[in-house]
Amino acid sequence: ILLSAMTFSRTITVGTSADFPPFEYIENGQFVGFDMDLMREIAKIAGFDLKFVDMSFDSLIPALRAGQVDVVAAAMTITDERKQVVDFSIPYWTADQSVIVKSESPLTITVLFSKGKIGVQTGTTGDLWCTDNLVSTGMLPEKNLKRYDTFVLALSDLLNGNIDAIVLDSPVANRFAATKPVRVVGIITTGEQYGVAVRKGEKELLEKINNAIKVLNESGKMSELIDKYF
Ligand code: ARG
Repeated sequence: ILLSAMTFSRTITVGTSADFPPFEYIENGQFVGFDMDLMREIAKIAGFDLKFVDMSFDSLIPALRAGQVDVVAAAMTITDERKQVVDFSIPYWTADQSVIVKSESPLTITVLFSKGKIGVQTGTTGDLWCTDNLVSTGMLPEKNLKRYDTFVLALSDLLNGNIDAIVLDSPVANRFAATKPVRVVGIITTGEQYGVAVRKGEKELLEKINNAIKVLNESGKMSELIDKYF
């Protein structure tokens, strides 16, 4: 029997770094979070099946470019640098960076940014901000910036006292502050926007994703997802 390709729904492989609640994390062996549900809703509208793959954040763009994944949904900020190598959907979120410390830590931002041990996730906008504004300016010694593959590792080092602070996206910092013995000591207003990334030139896929995001915004489904996770 010859079936036209149209009768098969395409399976889209979504790469994420599932260490970033409430956007993406693993619970009872399942991918959960705002971005995961957002992708599921997009897939329903666009008519494709989904498969999620977990990896370190800095592997996501290389994996996308190499064709190992078709989409990246990882609270990824749309930056000019990334736009050179991947295409982004319309923005679906706006965030800043926050600095978190252990709840009982007396350290101030001034102390932290000049002699603290600061943790970041490799390749994130938090990493870039610290590199450009603290290390490159000579304010913080290079060895004081510690890069981690995942926030799970960074957080356990913070709780163990191996580092003094973590710089990360504000919504996730707020989530950690509500669920772990950590608190927010400072906010860096970056106003960055998240987008879903696809390989450069994947016009059809990108259009489907953008159209679905618009449908979700208009139908109230997006607000429903926000209420579920925030
Ligand atoms: N928004 C930041 C960036 O794009 C951090 C994203 C980290 N995402 C994650 N799933 N760990 O660089």
